[in-house]
Amino acid sequence: SRQIKIAPSILAADFANFGAECRAVEAEGADWIHVDVMDGHFVPNITFGPATCAAIRPHIRGIMDVHLMIAPVDPYIEAFAQAGADIITAHLEAGPHIHRTLQAIRATGKKAGLALNPGTGLDGVETMLDMIDLVCVMTVNPGFGGQKFLDLSAKVRALRNLIGDRPIHIEIDGGITPETAPVMARAGADVLVAGSAVFKGGSAAAPEAYGQNIRAI
Ligand code: DX5
Ligand code: ZN
Repeated sequence: SRQIKIAPSILAADFANFGAECRAVEAEGADWIHVDVMDGHFVPNITFGPATCAAIRPHIRGIMDVHLMIAPVDPYIEAFAQAGADIITAHLEAGPHIHRTLQAIRATGKKAGLALNPGTGLDGVETMLDMIDLVCVMTVNPGFGGQKFLDLSAKVRALRNLIGDRPIHIEIDGGITPETAPVMARAGADVLVAGSAVFKGGSAAAPEAYGQNIRAI
């Protein structure tokens, strides 16, 4: 069966201790660290930027999966690549030239991700399959953690069929819990982002809860 990776989102972590939080969830079994960058323009919230990514990079042994909820994207790609992102994901909806954005991400040598809001269909994906390493299927409207899961199983199944045996990850982002995770795994996802489900009730000082939360997904 497809090995499911868990990518805790630091949006739900302690903003005053990102380094310790990243180390804690990695020690407790996290596969990737999902970093939610928000600009208060593409989404109605502001989080952090390249400087924070650079600061947490030394505290992440594995993959730093940077989710850019920003518009425009292109002026900042180089900065996130320099900050140490392994995957840089841009939203198809962030502007008219997503094709150029994906080219620019690949040109930095990083892996390129394409994020789709819940209301966006798959027709754009078909033309860019050879330019992406990951599709991030938003199962909440972006901007906040702890929101209610939108069951987009049909979209994920159609995406899995479209991808075929290409080396492209299907990452589900938003509202993943022990209840919703199996639904998305069955639909064809192989990476599950989880913020509140991982970080709830835990702390870097007592990371056991993180391990239990990760294993429960
Ligand atoms: C929302 C972010 C998600 C969010 C997930 O805009 O892209 O990654 O942090 O948080 P939960 O898992 O709590 O829905
Ligand atoms: Zn995200």
